[in-house]
Amino acid sequence: MATEEHKYLADIIKNTHATLREEAQNYGPEIAWKRHTSCKDILQKYASSMHKLATTYWIENNLNVKNSTYSRIEWIKFHCEEYFFNGGKQKYDIREGDIKLKIDTNCIIETEVATNCRLNSEHKKDRSDGSLRKPIEKVSLLDVGSCFDPFGSLDMFEVTAIDLNSVPNKVLRCDFLNVRIGDEKVLSDDCQEVLQLPESSFDVVVFSLFLEYLPCPKQRYACCKKAYDLLQNGGILFIVSPDSKHVNANVKIIKSWRYVLSKLGFMRIKYEKLRHMHCMVFRKCAFKHVATRWADLQRPSYDDALYKDVTSIYIPQDFRNVSRENVEGEKEEYDSDEVTSMFNELPFEQL
Ligand SMILES: C[S@@+](CC[C@H](N)C(=O)[O-])C[C@H]1O[C@@H](n2cnc3c(N)ncnc32)[C@H](O)[C@@H]1O
Repeated sequence: MATEEHKYLADIIKNTHATLREEAQNYGPEIAWKRHTSCKDILQKYASSMHKLATTYWIENNLNVKNSTYSRIEWIKFHCEEYFFNGGKQKYDIREGDIKLKIDTNCIIETEVATNCRLNSEHKKDRSDGSLRKPIEKVSLLDVGSCFDPFGSLDMFEVTAIDLNSVPNKVLRCDFLNVRIGDEKVLSDDCQEVLQLPESSFDVVVFSLFLEYLPCPKQRYACCKKAYDLLQNGGILFIVSPDSKHVNANVKIIKSWRYVLSKLGFMRIKYEKLRHMHCMVFRKCAFKHVATRWADLQRPSYDDALYKDVTSIYIPQDFRNVSRENVEGEKEEYDSDEVTSMFNELPFEQL
């Protein structure tokens, strides 16, 4: 059973999202975003509510490994260990080299311009490049929309935690949509805000319950493109997206993300549907055409709204009309699809 306080905190979260989406519909995403990010008190209230919901539940139920805050962090940690310390990265380096060889061989046979000999030596080079690299000691991780820095206590990570709202000594203020990308990290004079992030520098970028916050498909795509630019070759992007429905309910949307991200240069290397969320890992390929090959082999219907524009990332909420009734109506109204897909995964639902 949810306590009154949990319901109250969850309402703050839901109302923040609903208001932002409504304003984006009424005034356009840029104006709505500007207004939203200038409301410091709302950002702060949101952050403290989210923190309390997650950590209260986590602490009260720290033996229950099925709790969803715990499970998404654990899921990411486990897959980082597999990838960076248990041979996963090398496996995908080799796989990428093999796919590249296959694609290049086909191109070369078609144009009849090169010999197998050259291909073999290039292939060997690709393989050795991966295996000769120095093993990493700590995984550099950028947690976007971190809120309460859930990775900060884990020793294997060198964490940069960013959010619209800063938390002293934990989370740096940064609007990821508008942050610059350059040669190095640049902080504000008071060291509380990130002004610039370093290009091609991170092993991992995490979007955990982050993309759904953004009210517009183009904004979500812009963030995925930024993650791509910030990752090193072979680095990985985690996307965790709330959805309590059956795995097949939003399968078309999840497939369209794979399509758009493949066009961008990411290869999806892991997908799992947990009870309340989709968990995905996308690898930034060293050779972009290896990543785009998957999308090129698909035959999507371009009449389908999900595929009309490869610079948009859609979520189910984009296809619903937002109205104040849903936001301010009876409590029971919250159990609509929107809430089910966005917030069933929050701890209060499981108490
Ligand atoms: C639902 S919370 C997720 C918190 C945490 N990642 C988790 O998994 O529990 C979404 C967070 O994303 C942050 N956020 C939204 N847009 C952002 C942006 N453009 N830049 C940085 N943070 C953003 C919000 O402030 C909020 O704290």
